[in-house]
Amino acid sequence: MTENNVMEALKNVTYPGFTKDIVTFGFVKDVVIEGNNVSLTVDITSSADEVKQQIMQDVTVELKKIGFETINVNIKAPQAPKQMSNSISGKNIAPQVKNFVMVSSGKGGVGKSTTSVNLAVAMAMQGKKVGLLDADIYGPNIPRMMGVADQKPEIQGNKVLPLKAYGVEIMSMGSLMEPGQSLIWRGSMIMKAIEQFLRDILWSDLDVLVIDMPPGTGDAQLTLAQSVPVTAGVTVTTPQEVSLDDSRRSLDMFKKLHIPTAGIIENMSGFICPSCETESDIFGMGTATPVAMEYDTELIARIPIEPAVRIGGDTGMPVTYHKPDSETAKRYQEAAGKVLAFIDKVNAQGGVSNQAIQPTTPPGVSACSTQAAPKQESSGGSCGTGCGCH
Ligand SMILES: Nc1ncnc2c1ncn2[C@@H]1O[C@H](COP(=O)(O)OP(=O)(O)OP(=O)(O)O)[C@@H](O)[C@H]1O
Ligand SMILES: [Mg+2]
Ligand SMILES: [Zn+2]
Repeated sequence: MTENNVMEALKNVTYPGFTKDIVTFGFVKDVVIEGNNVSLTVDITSSADEVKQQIMQDVTVELKKIGFETINVNIKAPQAPKQMSNSISGKNIAPQVKNFVMVSSGKGGVGKSTTSVNLAVAMAMQGKKVGLLDADIYGPNIPRMMGVADQKPEIQGNKVLPLKAYGVEIMSMGSLMEPGQSLIWRGSMIMKAIEQFLRDILWSDLDVLVIDMPPGTGDAQLTLAQSVPVTAGVTVTTPQEVSLDDSRRSLDMFKKLHIPTAGIIENMSGFICPSCETESDIFGMGTATPVAMEYDTELIARIPIEPAVRIGGDTGMPVTYHKPDSETAKRYQEAAGKVLAFIDKVNAQGGVSNQAIQPTTPPGVSACSTQAAPKQESSGGSCGTGCGCH
């Protein structure tokens, strides 16, 4: 009897209320087999007793069927939330949207908007109904990156229809302002704008709304977390230590706002030479892995610097759609698949609710840390691999 036999048998145990099984969800751990005895852990995050009992019972039945005699099932589940009375559970001012993904970073210019665009396009290509909200009120870049910068949204009554490109519904402050117009807004106005983006835009019944956040951990992040149940947080960082330090702030923020963390995307991680397609190290590669471990999450993807990515952003032709065979496009597709799987997992465990968030900035979430961003451009020159192509 091997661990494989156990896993195969446990694929017959569906997670209560869902069609997927506990093995596919990745909940089964620490299988130890000694003769006819087996012990294992099922790691769930639902604290509901019915769920625990059901799983315990189903696992025992399936393992008996394949011949085990003593079956020791340890169900690992969190304590029930303590402050139920304090929670504004389930608040969702955009109820037609099933899941919200917050794309965040501690630092500016690391590639949040690029990541949001390509994740949204990849999810749409994978058959999901996807929206992309540009919550960067001061620096809205999404219209250009999605190629809709010259379009104005249609107004219906007192609501606004989102724009659409690459199968993705889009809204941005950039689409509502005149070109060149600048905004000087107070925090309270940012909050109001974000609420209106969620309430007064005619989003269809979306599977996922990807939200491109302004840099830092300020009012926009807090407002969003208070207005809708954010299903997954994605932090974008570059490999340098200074950026990693800032990404910790972003991960801390997810924790404080009760946002399940899907993981980290390490952007500008290595360079793919456009001539010879060799990948070389520039700012470091994989340096976000220890940070991911520190926060009990994973590195979802390493996205290299590829000139096609920047060009795709500047010309409104996302690399994921227009160069689907490129290495970066493949990695964005894989990352999108991982985020979708994470969303399934969160929902299987009972989903998220907006819990106990105070209307003031929570302790440890610092005020907005918008900084001048080091924009890293790969402007030709040697690819550094000694490939002799330049
Ligand atoms: N992997 C990449 N390869 C090449 N260029 C990239 C890559 N990722 C981002 N860029 C480029 O870097 C610049 C900054 O990216 P982006 O605007 O997505 O960052 P941001 O985090 O949203 O910035 P801000 O904080 O200002 O909103 C853009 O010109 C973009 O095209
Ligand atoms: Mg941006
Ligand atoms: Zn080269």
